[in-house]
Amino acid sequence: MPSLPQSVKTYREQRRGKWAKFVHYMSKPSSHVIIAIDGPAGAGKSTAAQRLACLLGFRYVDSGAMYRAVGWLVHACALPLEEPAAILGCLERTPVSLTFHNGTLEIWMAGQCVTSHLRSEAVARAASAVATMPGVRQMITAQLRHIGCQADVVMEGRDIGTVVFPDATIKFFLDASLQVRGQRRMQEMHQVGNTTTLGQVVEAMARRDSQDRARTVAPLVQSPEAHTIDTTDLTVDEVVQIMLSEIRRALPREEG
Ligand code: CDP
Repeated sequence: MPSLPQSVKTYREQRRGKWAKFVHYMSKPSSHVIIAIDGPAGAGKSTAAQRLACLLGFRYVDSGAMYRAVGWLVHACALPLEEPAAILGCLERTPVSLTFHNGTLEIWMAGQCVTSHLRSEAVARAASAVATMPGVRQMITAQLRHIGCQADVVMEGRDIGTVVFPDATIKFFLDASLQVRGQRRMQEMHQVGNTTTLGQVVEAMARRDSQDRARTVAPLVQSPEAHTIDTTDLTVDEVVQIMLSEIRRALPREEG
């Protein structure tokens, strides 16, 4: 049986009244390079972040996959989304472990690698709902900080530069028009045999965006220090080139 995940241990420790110690440990800035990439769904974060991580030899962390994994668990256990306490309880009982394969995060729940089961619309909806729950966010944030304290990372999500790593080495905020974001997501879905229409994709995306922006805990907002990139008319290569030139400016040692 895999050992208990750090998030669960952390959560228990917190419940035992060691909150102050927990906050202190988890707020320590990382000594590693943290490249934070935030933005709404379909802005092109994943492809650009993966390519960037590969070029720099950093670990690539898709924080959304962790929220999706909780969404997957909720779905698999048929837990009601209106009962955050039941969801947290289930998370506490479920052995979770995180591994890296070729520099990319893999998520294991109850001994099963769930990484390839996270892209369905049902899981995305559940992920967005559990992402509004402070207890779930606390557990995932602690895990993400732990990962960022172990190695140089390119980490993407909604709150990486604002909440998870406010002291990130460099921050990017990617955005694009809703129509283009919808087209990109639809293409991804068609590639795996899902024939959803553009209208349906755009509608689901807009609903999820507004839930992500409106929630009270760690909403999707742009950090004032983030470099904004509007990817509407850019190729992935162009986005990566813009990021690399900003990174070279921020980390002059990378040059040459
Ligand atoms: O791939 P896509 O951009 O559609 O979504 P994702 O990055 O896989 O994230 C799925 C959901 O997790 C989002 O809709 C957010 O609600 C939530 N999330 C979050 O709240 N904070 C993060 N750092 C990452 C994701």
